[in-house]
Amino acid sequence: MRIAIVRNGKELGERAFLEIKKVLLEKPDAVIGFATGATPLPLYEKMAEDHKKNGTSYKRVRAYNLDEYVGVDKGDKASFARFMRDNLFSKIDIDLANTDIPNGMAEDLNAECERYAEMVRANPADIQILGIGRNGHIAFNEPYTKPEEPTHIALLTADTRAANAGAFKDPSLVPTYALTMGINEILSAKRILLLATGESKAQAVYDMIMGRDDTSCPATALRKHPDVTVILDKEAASLLTFTEWENAAERRAAEASAAAAEEALVEEAAADEAADEEPVETAEETAEEEVPAEEIAETAAPAEE
Ligand code: PGA
Repeated sequence: MRIAIVRNGKELGERAFLEIKKVLLEKPDAVIGFATGATPLPLYEKMAEDHKKNGTSYKRVRAYNLDEYVGVDKGDKASFARFMRDNLFSKIDIDLANTDIPNGMAEDLNAECERYAEMVRANPADIQILGIGRNGHIAFNEPYTKPEEPTHIALLTADTRAANAGAFKDPSLVPTYALTMGINEILSAKRILLLATGESKAQAVYDMIMGRDDTSCPATALRKHPDVTVILDKEAASLLTFTEWENAAERRAAEASAAAAEEALVEEAAADEAADEEPVETAEETAEEEVPAEEIAETAAPAEE
């Protein structure tokens, strides 16, 4: 788990965007798992700004979200589907047909959970963005949720409903149930990017990193994952004990790795261009270089992980 501590929302957006950019440079048709909530907003603003300024394209990206309320229509301003459209998807060139979110209005909610679990299984995320609840939840996996439970109907705790009341006219209108991806499904992503800001998250962040390793804090499950980046502001990190030096070193390492990915891409593009300029081979020359059939079969076999 890499931990970066930033000064404010703007820095959080910039630092988190380095992770997204790295993935897109490696794989323009990446699968990105998105999260809703106040925390990822600076990242989405940065993505929109970068798309406008630098033309970073999401045309080939496939995206899906972690969760959705039961009984809230996707056109409703309080729905997570609408949140994604208003705050990100309408500001980048992603194809809405390539995005997915659980349908909390489905007639058969269990069938919808099965459909979603199957979709996630078929499309493991290259990077999954996460927030964390004050009670340590990830997506709507509240404390004591079994990690192996796939996408399911979750009963929201009173604390979670209170924390999310802002989007509703009246706190009593916050749904009691939501559809959520499960913990192990979240862990199936190749990389995880967890963001947390504000003092109200400090205890959950501490528990995730240093607390008891059990389901009382669902986010502790992330300790099992080999590639997790956690980005915190000072308030969310206030119960941890990292020094400025460690944090500056983390930032330099992240910038160097994003720059290296970009450089590799530029070099690859230059090599492609040079190859295009090479004189066209005659049919005879090409024939001489042909690879025997067995060798092709061997090369084509997928590499074992
Ligand atoms: P927040 O929600 O970003 O609005 O704090 C995060 C969460 O509950 O997972």
